[in-house]
Amino acid sequence: MNLANWFKHPHEPFIYAALTVALTAGFGYGAFMVGTLAMGLIPGTWWGALVQAHGHAQLFGWMGLFILGMGLYFLPRLRGVPLQSATRMPLAFGLLGAGIGLRVLAQPLLAWNFFGATALPFWQILWLVSAALELAGIFVLGSMLVTSHRAAKPLIPTSPAYPIEPFLRIAVLSFSLAFLLNGLGIGYAVAQGKSTLATPFENLIITLMFYGVAVPMAIVFGTRTLPLFMRLAPPPRESLRLLARVYSVGLLLVLLPSLVPLTAMLFPSTLFQNRVAEISAALNLLWGIGSLALNLCILIFLWQLDLLRRRSSWVANRAANTRPELDVLRKPTRANYPDSGEYGRFELLIYAAFAWLGLTVVLNLARVLGEFTDWFRVSPDTARHALAVGFVTLLICGMAARMVPGFSHKKGLVYPQLVAVIFVVGNLAALLRVIPTLFPNSEIALTLWGLSGIFGWMTIALLAFNLVTTIRSNPAESPLPLSNLLHRG
Ligand code: HEM
Repeated sequence: MNLANWFKHPHEPFIYAALTVALTAGFGYGAFMVGTLAMGLIPGTWWGALVQAHGHAQLFGWMGLFILGMGLYFLPRLRGVPLQSATRMPLAFGLLGAGIGLRVLAQPLLAWNFFGATALPFWQILWLVSAALELAGIFVLGSMLVTSHRAAKPLIPTSPAYPIEPFLRIAVLSFSLAFLLNGLGIGYAVAQGKSTLATPFENLIITLMFYGVAVPMAIVFGTRTLPLFMRLAPPPRESLRLLARVYSVGLLLVLLPSLVPLTAMLFPSTLFQNRVAEISAALNLLWGIGSLALNLCILIFLWQLDLLRRRSSWVANRAANTRPELDVLRKPTRANYPDSGEYGRFELLIYAAFAWLGLTVVLNLARVLGEFTDWFRVSPDTARHALAVGFVTLLICGMAARMVPGFSHKKGLVYPQLVAVIFVVGNLAALLRVIPTLFPNSEIALTLWGLSGIFGWMTIALLAFNLVTTIRSNPAESPLPLSNLLHRG
């Protein structure tokens, strides 16, 4: 890709890389893991490293690179400037891509003891280098964002970015912290001769990436784009900034219980070393309060987004069409949507994603209740994958279908009908990954759970096919019927 293309289409390399990581170490490792467990194979000591490599690939590769790809194009323009210092983009992308690629290979190979004991230092060094590359990549990206921020128009209450700017800050800070903790965690693990990050590091990173990055970025993108794409009522501007304040306090409280054991682990001689258990119990209460606040904010946002169309659309009060004689020249649009179907039924994916977000909130609240009443237990894995597969993955699929053609200067998707297929397969993946975990003793549930990985992988493969054919298509090419694809073979 030449430099001119980096300026014009900065999102494309990030999207290609996100899809590649998802199809290999992300959904690939995931499918392998659930498949082996469903077949009754007993995992070895390498299991923990493979789980962490999968988690890293999904959070930083699939989700992180996709958000960066779309965000680097979209966010500076929200402040009235294109991305500044864009010549640094290939460097930032190369560092990040190489770091993530190295990480998801080196960690499992280290745990497998690949090539025997003499090769161990080699894998350890590669693992360390992966973290250094990622940190360098995020540093270069950060420098571009700072320059763009300086060149941006001043933020005033009427600016388009004003209501969502605090959520953007939460996301940028959480993303940077997650990379930093990942580097520290790997350094600590290597120093201890381990092949996995210690639990407090991993818990902090996962919470930061899901509730510090994924949810705030969904609020940023959702608030700015969904009222336009789906002709919804505009979310109230004033309350979003207040919501962000409560949300950030909730997030801080949720992070606290992992921060204390982490500090005690890193600084063993400090005063509270012997009182970690006591302090952790007190912090657990704060975790409960934080989790309630955070999930309540998500519910309020869902209500304000008004996907159920309780309030009238932002177009309802617009002046009547003054040139009705030109109507014959205008392409008819779908009812309630400004498009003519060239992005497929992308809204189904958006509705499904936010329904999964609602279910995640219910599961999180059940976890808090379970923690303090001992009535029942919802495993963290259940809520985590409702958010990861149901919300994050389906939202990325829906947003990508709607936004990528425009970013790449195309009229629409080459295969818009494929979006409905992605909706069905993606929801099946989420259902199979989440619901069986509620029945841990059932053999049938285990078998169904084992199939979730294949459906997850197929979802990404279909999305990748649709996006890549669209990005590579001729700008004038019209959307093709699905039968064209089926008859080709
Ligand atoms: C259908 C697709 C998926 C399958 C089959 C799958 C499978 C798994 C499995 C078997 C585990 C280990 C669970 C345990 O040991 O308790 C796991 C952990 C995890 N997964 Fe997934 N997963 C999928 C999708 C995703 C997605 C889309 C994300 C994020 C966007 C994600 C993020 C994670 C994280 C963060 C962990 C925990 C890692 C750790 O403990 O360090 N997964 N997954």
